[in-house]
Amino acid sequence: MNPNIVYFEETGSTNEEARKLAFAGYPHGTLVMADSQTGGKGRRGRNWHTPKGTSIAMSLILKPQLEAEYASMLTLVQAMAVVKAIEEECGLNAQIKWPNDILVNEKKVCGILTEMNLEGTKISSIIIGTGINVNQEDFPEDISDIATSLKRESGKVHSRENLVKCICKLFDNYFGMFMESKDLSGILEEYNSRLISAGRRVKVLDPKEEFMGEALGINASGELLVKKESGEMVTVYAGEVSVRGIYGYV
Ligand code: BTN
Repeated sequence: MNPNIVYFEETGSTNEEARKLAFAGYPHGTLVMADSQTGGKGRRGRNWHTPKGTSIAMSLILKPQLEAEYASMLTLVQAMAVVKAIEEECGLNAQIKWPNDILVNEKKVCGILTEMNLEGTKISSIIIGTGINVNQEDFPEDISDIATSLKRESGKVHSRENLVKCICKLFDNYFGMFMESKDLSGILEEYNSRLISAGRRVKVLDPKEEFMGEALGINASGELLVKKESGEMVTVYAGEVSVRGIYGYV
């Protein structure tokens, strides 16, 4: 995939721009980027902060032949690409907080928001939106406890361009593996080895039932395997559920 790039100095949300461009016929592999966002969207209706000159805000348009139920797995494919790119380009150890956060030293440097557009029951496009805190020095007070940037953790300024190129190259490879098997079997081992909650006690915030258990890892469908305190094994689907460490965010 050699991305066709659409660049904005400033926009509301690259995911929104990408959605419009996908409807307007922009092809599979188009990458929409912005230097800053005024209305960046996070998961669960939260805002995502993208200040000028220091962050990566990008949304990839995909138009794969896939059934809708596979779309959420692409968040995990992109998470794997971002983790590896941070390791390769910045020399930092990064970890994944399932399913869509990337952490360095237990603080969040990246969030991924995957959105799907349907025509009837078929996928017309999938937008994978990725926000990365690259060279920020400071964060708004409400997130300063849980957010960090690559620069704050490494003490060095990082090239946003090199990081984006590396993520795209790695995504291409992992996406190819995913499309062959239509599951995450090809990245399972690598993903699980970077999963921050693996082997830790977690609290699963399921709207139907909240429970504690030990996170074991993901399966090939991208669900988190959790051993409940009763010993029962359950699989947790990312859709509506959020997982917390017992002492807070991680
Ligand atoms: C999250 O952690 O809640 C997900 C954050 C996703 C933010 C990115 S920035 C680029 C793209 N455009 C958006 O409006 N959101 C995503």
